[in-house]
Amino acid sequence: MARILITSAIPYINGIKHLGNLVGSQLPADLFARYNRARGHEVLFLCATDEHGTPAELAAAKAGKPVADYCAEMWQVQKDLSDGFGLSFDKFGRSSSTQNRTLTQHFAGRLADAGLIDEVSEKQVYSNADGRFLPDRYIEGTCPNCGYDKARGDQCENCTKQLDPTDLIAPRSAISGSTDLEVRETKHLYLKQRSMRDQLQNWIDSKTDWPILTTSIAKKWLNDGDGLQDRGITRDLDWGIPVKRGTKDWPGMEGKVFYVWFDAPIEYIACAKEWTDATGRDDAEWERWWRTDKGADDVRYVQFMGKDNVPFHTLSFPATIIGSGEPWKLVDYIKSFNYLNYDGGQFSTSQGRGVFMDQALEILPADYWRWWLLSHAPESSDSEFTWENFQQSVNKDLADVLGNFVSRVTKFCRSKFGEEVPSGGTWGPDEEALIDRLQKGLTAYEMQMDAIEVRKAAAELRAIWVAGNEYLQNAAPWAVFKEDPDRAAAIVRLALNLIRVYAVLSAPFIPTASAMMLSAMNTLDTDWPGDMKEALSALPEGHAFSVPDVLFAKISDEDREAWQEKFSGQR
Ligand code: 2FM
Ligand code: ZN
Repeated sequence: MARILITSAIPYINGIKHLGNLVGSQLPADLFARYNRARGHEVLFLCATDEHGTPAELAAAKAGKPVADYCAEMWQVQKDLSDGFGLSFDKFGRSSSTQNRTLTQHFAGRLADAGLIDEVSEKQVYSNADGRFLPDRYIEGTCPNCGYDKARGDQCENCTKQLDPTDLIAPRSAISGSTDLEVRETKHLYLKQRSMRDQLQNWIDSKTDWPILTTSIAKKWLNDGDGLQDRGITRDLDWGIPVKRGTKDWPGMEGKVFYVWFDAPIEYIACAKEWTDATGRDDAEWERWWRTDKGADDVRYVQFMGKDNVPFHTLSFPATIIGSGEPWKLVDYIKSFNYLNYDGGQFSTSQGRGVFMDQALEILPADYWRWWLLSHAPESSDSEFTWENFQQSVNKDLADVLGNFVSRVTKFCRSKFGEEVPSGGTWGPDEEALIDRLQKGLTAYEMQMDAIEVRKAAAELRAIWVAGNEYLQNAAPWAVFKEDPDRAAAIVRLALNLIRVYAVLSAPFIPTASAMMLSAMNTLDTDWPGDMKEALSALPEGHAFSVPDVLFAKISDEDREAWQEKFSGQR
């Protein structure tokens, strides 16, 4: 049994996430967590809300609420939605937790003691119209790298280049649009990432199995001329983790907070402590996941994130960890994703374009979305959500193939043999051929799941569903029944058992439907199949079952058109 630590990039607190956000980290992380638990591994799956920084402050101001209250409310909203989507976090924490405050201040102290922090007096943009210093991301302008005219002061969304606000051409305040900006003197802390370049380079070079998307972005920022810059880790803001050097005050840094991107990844660690603290358990229990001197050396740590997050996870956060000189666990594998587009354009939070998590659950159950999103995950390139494709995928894969199989088998059995696994007859060459096909399919499915090839894994699972359907179609128990009821019983016995196997194999993708299938099959046996023949005999002759409700309803053309129309404008 392996131990696997899984984290998903932690979503910003301000606002409800769209389906593109969901498929870029939380959902595939959940797939992987559920799969590994099902395989019998010990999993710790963590996520949290990313609560600091200006976006939270501004969103709270807009909502007319104190920022702490706003964050507490939005955490609950995001938590309910993640439950609604079946995201099986062991802990959904908060980066504003006391655990994260203590740990973030601790890391800063360690980095300072190691001589890795510079105090820099610098000039910062102050907006006269807004009466405040402008954080990097609230200065907009033209990207000097690619010419995109809505680049933010911290990063260009278009070319992913990490920027400083002073790099921007024609800067303006993103809050008011004002160009009445002036530069004022203020002191900040810088993490000396440049002095850790060789260590980071060696570490990244040692990761020969990482996805190309991850390493190409990491190497780009490491090697491109000015790629690895020392990073400002403090801000002139009210809301955030107060700057301290461990538990001590930091002279000259009064009233400043850590930069949100400094404390956010530390929340991955703090979240584990939140998890044990919540139930009064000992520190040793979270440390065995995070401290290599306390048992985490045999943990496999896998992170999930969108491609824009990769530089922070391949350079900045590892620099924090390595620089601390303490035995914290470093990530073993980073699975990153491209973007999901929406119906001919981009999903956009600021413009309210696309389908958001709350809206999705209002119109259809989570499994419909989970299946489509995961089977179309933007892995090798950006992918696109269209309503036609969604309708087709739900109607074909879920309703026609899987749902129909379950409904046909259970209803046929009920009408001819009653609601129990029938006895009589034996399996012949058709069953052997099917079992052989399923065994091979299982191996292929496991291989893709282990490799976190999400789309390919979905394709293998679909192939396993199709194999059962084709078998049933050819074996045609309804036709055989009149002449040879025993033969029909043998076919149905296999098919009922296959429903249980489908429930187990499909649970990481569609947990609710899987639970319905298991409950209809009246079994708690969720053992992952090893030998298919054995797995297909788990439900013995005479075992009672029931006919489940429709697992997946088809999406009609009218519904599709109505939703397409409804979601065409702004939220
Ligand atoms: O891009 C985002 O949504 C960030 N809030 C992700 C942070 S991930 C981490 F480092 F905590
Ligand atoms: Zn750019």
